[in-house]
Amino acid sequence: MEGFAGKVAVVTGAGSGIGQALAIELGRSGAKLAICDVDTEGLAATEERLKAIGAPVKADRLDVTEREAFLLYADAVKEHYGTVNQIYNNAGIAFTGDVEISEFKDIERVMDVDYWGVVNGTKAFLPHLIASGDGHVINVSSVFGLFSVPGQAAYNSAKFAVRGFTEALRQEMAIAKHPVKVTTVHPGGIKTAIARNATAAEGLDAKELAEAFDKKLANTTPQRAAVIILDGVRKNKARVLVGPDAKILDVIVRITGSGYQRLFSAVAAKAMPR
Ligand SMILES: NC(=O)c1ccc[n+]([C@@H]2O[C@H](COP(=O)([O-])OP(=O)(O)OC[C@H]3O[C@@H](n4cnc5c(N)ncnc54)[C@H](O)[C@@H]3O)[C@@H](O)[C@H]2O)c1
Repeated sequence: MEGFAGKVAVVTGAGSGIGQALAIELGRSGAKLAICDVDTEGLAATEERLKAIGAPVKADRLDVTEREAFLLYADAVKEHYGTVNQIYNNAGIAFTGDVEISEFKDIERVMDVDYWGVVNGTKAFLPHLIASGDGHVINVSSVFGLFSVPGQAAYNSAKFAVRGFTEALRQEMAIAKHPVKVTTVHPGGIKTAIARNATAAEGLDAKELAEAFDKKLANTTPQRAAVIILDGVRKNKARVLVGPDAKILDVIVRITGSGYQRLFSAVAAKAMPR
């Protein structure tokens, strides 16, 4: 893909799924990679694949919830490559549970990784992106940042928050005339390990939920997702919808307004185990 050659790109959560596919597609397109994850085994696999392509790669263990470590990491990437052009705030986790049976700690954990991880990454890298003269922040939300579904209040909160944060940032960069583009990504169901890595409230069967997600909802490959995301980044889109399901759901929500809630709760009650 054109437009990425020589660019320094940071990808969080690069040890699996969408992050791994993004890193590899960026490497194939001539970018220099800084990849990070808490899963060092998955990260090493991505690093190996990038080396096989011949892409420059710096791989580090980083927990996106650790703000001080993230700030030091941003400086280390700048030091290593001399500049930083793009950050893909992609790392994320999932959790299922109605509000009534979810514990505060479960909701906080999802917000810590999926929302604060994105804020930490954006803030840590923003000065470097501005200084690069050609920066881009790419924050991964979800279709669950466009509408809510039962059992996903924690994840919905984090993904709606990512969307709010990122859409404000895009406008701020334009007003300040900073050379930083900003894109929010809303994937539909992607065939990754997310559901298998997910947790659930007590009494729910996380394995059964993961199987239902993998079988019924995950239709797009991570490779296809990466190509769609990078095409949107190249075109400086404000919003990238990933997969046919994301596009259809977005239209339904816009047409029905708040009426989607009645529709989706009926479908969710039938489709997902509770
Ligand atoms: N798969 C989907 O259907 C889907 C749909 C919409 C949005 N998303 C979003 O896409 C992003 C990528 O998810 P995926 O589907 O590739 O899942 P995945 O589980 O395959 O990969 C997520 C990666 O993030 C890493 N990670 C988790 N917590 C971390 C932390 N605290 N610090 C650093 N790394 C951490 C994991 O180790 C893993 O390697 C997430 O933000 C997810 O919410 C996924």
